[in-house]
Order: sequence, then structure tokens, then C-alpha cells
Amino acid sequence: MTTYSLLILPGDGIGPEVMAEVRKVIGWFENNRGLSFDVSEDLVGGAAYDKHGKPLADETMAKAQAVDAVLLGAVGGPKYDELDFSLKPERGLLRLRKEMDLFANLRPAQCFDALADFSSLKREVVAGLDILIVRELTSGVYFGEPRGISADDTPGNEGGRVGVNTQRYTSGEIRRVARSAFELARKRGNRVCSMEKANVMESGILWREEVQWVHDNEYPDVALSHMYADNGAMQLVRNPRQFDVILTDNLFGDVLSDAAAMLTGSLGMLPSASLGAPMANGRPKALYEPVHGSAPDITGQGKANPIACILSFAMCLRYSFDLGVEADMLEKAVEQVLADGLRTADLMGPEGGTPVSTSEMGDRILAALSAQ
Ligand code: NAD
Ligand code: IPM
Ligand code: MN
Repeated sequence: MTTYSLLILPGDGIGPEVMAEVRKVIGWFENNRGLSFDVSEDLVGGAAYDKHGKPLADETMAKAQAVDAVLLGAVGGPKYDELDFSLKPERGLLRLRKEMDLFANLRPAQCFDALADFSSLKREVVAGLDILIVRELTSGVYFGEPRGISADDTPGNEGGRVGVNTQRYTSGEIRRVARSAFELARKRGNRVCSMEKANVMESGILWREEVQWVHDNEYPDVALSHMYADNGAMQLVRNPRQFDVILTDNLFGDVLSDAAAMLTGSLGMLPSASLGAPMANGRPKALYEPVHGSAPDITGQGKANPIACILSFAMCLRYSFDLGVEADMLEKAVEQVLADGLRTADLMGPEGGTPVSTSEMGDRILAALSAQ
């Protein structure tokens, strides 16, 4: 029997709360579907800083490189706001992404029918929505050099300090994430819309030209369009179902995916997969995490919606373990509890529903799995 190795990094804030529900789901698949997981757990973010004085220990980094897949909760929180930039919790997550070379971040936004009335947009705009944002994750302005804040804070020298970040892409970086988007599009609606700002940024011109090159030479069968990212943000809210796969850079992808979250009803619904090059077993190096953060405003209150983290595990089943049947089962179980009217606090609107806590939501998802 295959044993899948998993490294779980719950992180900070609601990270451990939502990850506890994923652990239940893992247990359910072991007990009921005969799957075998070798699960280890470690620290990332503020939790790692508290223990090791840095947001990701080298030993944890090495473990992440060695396992079949990493599951991450969330990092960050006000407790760490004053830390030196290099020690901030977010640096731990960015180090994982960079050193594992997880260049393709898949952020699907699906509107479950039971939540179509809950979205802040009208039902007829979001019902049936199923789009996939492919965000470049290891380059662009998040990592470009030069970067930093100039040290010149001489009193009286008002305006003398400079904050610098550099938007930088190579053609190779653009081509590889474009290939990921085209491959994924072929298994869906066969359409890719690439978003940048080629009207104001040279890196945007390069992005557009390279995406077009990959299309023309390798994926001429996929329908490709280009859009300026600001228009893309507007179109996402105006008529999101016009899109199938959206391909975009690191920063635009971060912003556009939070916007897309509200099309589904809540940021607590959006999962993600961060994929790199294939490992020796043919499967991609991978980290799975919800799109949301550590939600300090609701931490410790049993209010967090665990669905984004649970659906991230469904993506892990599909992309890292090739367990499409099990992934479908888990996604159906989520759909079922929503259809049954179960709602964590973030999903409670005027149309009502049965309020449930984080752990009750997890329990009901297990029950829905068992009922299949
Ligand atoms: P956030 O995503 O943590 O929270 C934004 C809002 O959404 C909050 O009102 C929160 O309560 C709500 N929310 C988020 N997830 C939810 C869930 N599962 N269920 C119910 N409600 C949910 O963003 P923020 O407040 O801007 O950032 C807080 C911290 O998280 C910061 O330190 C930030 O850097 C970090 N962050 C981490 C990640 C990550 O680890 N991948 C992602 C985004 C933000
Ligand atoms: C995300 C987060 C991260 C990002 C932060 C926490 C580093 O916002 O995963 O969306 O900006 O990529
Ligand atoms: Mn984000």
C-alpha cells in the first residue's frame, strides 16, 4: 500500500483551528478508505519565531523539501507587527514558496449553489461560477532586487528616505507558469485570460509577449485573451463567469484572488495549491493552503470557517496523490453541508441557516462523507 508523507504546518491565529478539522478529514480517509498517511507536524510563522527566533527553522525547511506534500494553515498576527522585516511570520511562508520553487499557485473560485444568495453580488452574476486563478508565486515584485528601505533618516531631511521593490520577470519564469495555465485550461473550459499592465510596465509587455509565444508555439488549441489587470478586477466583479482560467503575476494574483473570494461568499471558502516542478515520483513539489490569513479578529472563538483549508486538502488528494475519486468525495461532502444550511459565522446572512462552530462544521463534513 502507498503511504503518502505529509508535513502539516498549522501556523498562527486560526491556522491551527482550521487545520484540526483537516486532521479529522485525514483520519476519516485512513479509517474509511484504506489510505495511509505518514503525517508529521511542525512550526511556521509566529509560532516558529516564538520557539526558534525565526519564522522557519532550517530543519523544517528540509522536512518540507522531503515530503510528498505540505499543508499550511496561516501565518501572521498583530503580536509580530513590530518584528524586524526578515523575522516576520510571512517571511517563513515566502521562504517555503521560494526554496521549494512553487511557481504556480492555483486558486479556484467556485460558487456553491447554496451560497449564491450569500455573495455580496447578485445570484444571477455568481451562480454556477467556476474559475481558476493561476498566480505566479516565486518571482515578480515579491522577490525582485533591488529592494529595501534606504537608511537615510537624517533629521530635517524630509522626503530623503526611499522604499524600493522591483517588479522583475524573466521569460523563463513567465513561460513555465503560462504552460501550467494552458495545461489546466485544457482540462477545463480551454480558455486562458492573461492579466498584466503592459500599458504601463515593461515587465507587463514581456509577460504578454511570452504568454502569447507559449500559446502560439505550444498551445494554439487553447483560446487566449489578454486584459489589463485593472480592467480584469472590474470584469471579475461585473461578469466573473466570462472567465475560465486567469493567468497573472504574483502581486496582481494576490489581489485578484481575494476579490474573487467574495464571489464565492467568503474568503473562508477559497483553497489553493502551490505547485512546482515534478519530483522523482512524477508528482509536483507541492504546498496546499487556504487563501485566507490568520484572521486575528476571530482567533480562538470557534468562528473560523474550515472549508478553505479542507478544500485545500482535496486539492492535495487530486494533485499530489492522484486520488481524484477521494477529492471529489470531499468536495461533494462540503457541497452537501452547505446545501443542508450549515453556516459558520462568516456565512451567516439574512437568509439564515444553522450556525455551526469550526469543529461542528468539520464533524458535519465527516458525517456527509460517511453518508456517501
Ligand atoms: P485575513 O485573511 O486573515 O482576514 C481578513 C478577514 O477575513 C477577517 O475579517 C477575517 O476574520 C476573515 N476571515 C479570514 N479567513 C476566515 C475564515 N477561514 N473564516 C472566517 N473568516 C475568515 O487577512 P488580514 O486580516 O489582512 O491578515 C491577518 C494576518 O494574516 C496578517 O499577518 C497577514 O499577513 C496574514 N496573512 C497570511 C496569509 C497566509 O498565511 N497564507 C494570507 C493572508 C494574510
Ligand atoms: C497570500 C498572502 C501572502 C501573499 C502573504 C501572507 C505573504 O496574502 O497567500 O495570499 O501575499 O502571498
Ligand atoms: Mn493574499
